[in-house]
Amino acid sequence: MPEAQKTFYLTTPIYYVNDAPHIGHAYTTVAADVVTRWHRQRQEDVWFLTGTDEHGEKVLRTAEANGVSPQDWADRLVETAWKPVLNTLDVRNDDFIRTTQERHETAVQAFLTDLYDKGGIYEGSYEGPYCVGCEEYKLPGELLDGTGEFEGLKVCAIHGTPVEMLSEQNYFFRMSEYADRLLALYEEHPEFVQPASARNEVVSFVKQGLQDLSISRSTFDWGVPIPWDTSHVLYVWFDALLNYATAVGLDSADPERKEQFARTWPADVHLVGKDILRFHAVIWPAMLMAAGLPLPKTVFAHGWLLVGGEKMSKSKLTGIAPSDIIDTFGSDAFRYYFMRTIAFGGDGSFSWEDMTARYNGELANGFGNLASRTAAMVGKYFGGTLPTAGEPTDAETALARVAAQAVADAEAAIDRLAIHDAVSAVWTLVDATNGYLADTQPWKIAKEPGETDESGAGVDGGRLATSLVTATEALRSLAVLLNPITPKAAAGLWELLGAEASLGALDAQPLDAAATFGVLPAGTTVTKGAALFPRLDDTAA
Ligand code: MSP
Repeated sequence: MPEAQKTFYLTTPIYYVNDAPHIGHAYTTVAADVVTRWHRQRQEDVWFLTGTDEHGEKVLRTAEANGVSPQDWADRLVETAWKPVLNTLDVRNDDFIRTTQERHETAVQAFLTDLYDKGGIYEGSYEGPYCVGCEEYKLPGELLDGTGEFEGLKVCAIHGTPVEMLSEQNYFFRMSEYADRLLALYEEHPEFVQPASARNEVVSFVKQGLQDLSISRSTFDWGVPIPWDTSHVLYVWFDALLNYATAVGLDSADPERKEQFARTWPADVHLVGKDILRFHAVIWPAMLMAAGLPLPKTVFAHGWLLVGGEKMSKSKLTGIAPSDIIDTFGSDAFRYYFMRTIAFGGDGSFSWEDMTARYNGELANGFGNLASRTAAMVGKYFGGTLPTAGEPTDAETALARVAAQAVADAEAAIDRLAIHDAVSAVWTLVDATNGYLADTQPWKIAKEPGETDESGAGVDGGRLATSLVTATEALRSLAVLLNPITPKAAAGLWELLGAEASLGALDAQPLDAAATFGVLPAGTTVTKGAALFPRLDDTAA
């Protein structure tokens, strides 16, 4: 029997449930959704995991401040905010893990016991400044002097809030032993940390040497109990990182889950924001090395969404909820905008003006109008039935070449996680098809002798038929290419093209199908349908 194909496995970070999602969180999730939908369009076996990080002091304090138990708080946030936002963003995840689930907690305890038995964990003491926002002990060099209400205190450089001196008898993970193996990993597998700027940061951090990591807390009990000493709970990051493996069946006794683990692990891509890069590129591989498990192939750190030049965050009151934007523009436009305008890996700013301009210019006029104009002309000249094309000329061959190149470029861009380049590559076909129609001018061809019959209907095999069939073929390619990026519009386009009847479901089209023309059979029913991206001033109340 041939070996089963390894599942393409991609994860988002699991989100803290201390607050509701903002567009910074949505950005990571949408990027993950576009990449996994793209791989599914290649007809690969794909697993896309997201979820929530529910333990630790930060969540505990938020729950206490709201007068409810941490479990109740987490349940409420997951059901009213974190799961619904996936729907708002039109995200198709395969699983949603919560760190308070039994499947996770049991496997985490098994992992810990195993690591303890192997000598990877010892008991010791630690004293140092701790930031609850980061859920991390800080080094003195990572702190700033507080100002204003925090005058005289040391504050976290990321959160701007005071750190707390903690002194605890804890369990430690022997992370310092892994510095050399980690450096060898970065050297031998430059693709392990991406982009290059992230890799450089991690390499210089590890070159300074690593300390052992305190992995337990005994001053509160909201966490996974340490199996051999239940007066301690596991450090929240150690608990959280393990989700990537426990979700797909690590340390499960169930044969089906074991099989899933074998097929899915290691992860192909962990997508993370740059603020949590070190946890994923240093602690996580060290944990896996200690356990003797295969390492993920890539940790990719994207940049921050900035508002007014600062990292957008709820705590600084710059947070924007995804629905604030999606209620006006729709989920497709949200996805398109953030994926296209921000070079994935760098920081980016959001502004309503830019969003509106791109919506109207690129989505409504550039793409939506192309689809409705083409469908309207097939309606006008051929009664909505796709004719038989005539011989292609250079113009048709050139457009087909653009489609093939767009597929090749977008494929390569997705493989290097340059999502913005993939969207730009797809857009070359939108622009070229608009250019093709502007050059060939089917509405003028229709007036030439022999192109239409006495009733004014277009004839098969003429230039008019060729130009409209060609534009329709470009739209079919675009439906396939846009399905991972703007799935609602792509589905609308597929319907408008009447493609399902002869070609089947859009999801089932191999990505390569976008690279060649001449696929939709003559006789296909094309309808104008509703605008895929109505101009905003048309709908604004
Ligand atoms: N719970 C941890 C992750 C554990 S993963 C094993 C955590 N959660 S978080 O909710 O604070 O952040 C989750 C993700 O959202 C991170 O990748 C973070 O970078 C991202 N973002 C939060 N604010 C952001 C912006 N303003 N811009 C872009 N991404 C941002 O960290």
